[in-house]
Amino acid sequence: MVRPLVALLALAAALPGLAVDGAAVYSKACASCHGGDGKGNTGPAIAGKPAAFVAEVVDMHAPTMKVPKLSAAEASAVGKYVANLK
Ligand code: HEC
Repeated sequence: MVRPLVALLALAAALPGLAVDGAAVYSKACASCHGGDGKGNTGPAIAGKPAAFVAEVVDMHAPTMKVPKLSAAEASAVGKYVANLK
């Protein structure tokens, strides 16, 4: 699991502007508080929440959650990723 993720992150960093990988954004910016599986940690469980809701929360509450400001593409990608977590 770790090595493909590192490769993805390196790729995303090397090629800005290409399609954003929601899983990579999630593990970097969200997993510490919401758990690797979205079932919650210090933050509430968010697995399976609607993608648009997640993207909106990320956009509006990023300062509260101490998340680095994400681009619209990153917020949308991470929303889709979270919505598909079971
Ligand atoms: C520093 C810890 C922290 C990080 C990092 C963090 N969150 Fe949160 N998140 C919280 C806490 C605490 C709450 C609940 C309190 C609040 O709304 O401020 C929350 C609430 C939420 C909610 C609303 C849940 C609900 O049902 O009301 C969503 C959706 C969410 N976070 C998504 C994310 C996503 C996606 C990321 C990554 C881009 C992220 N969070 C990063 C701590 C965090």
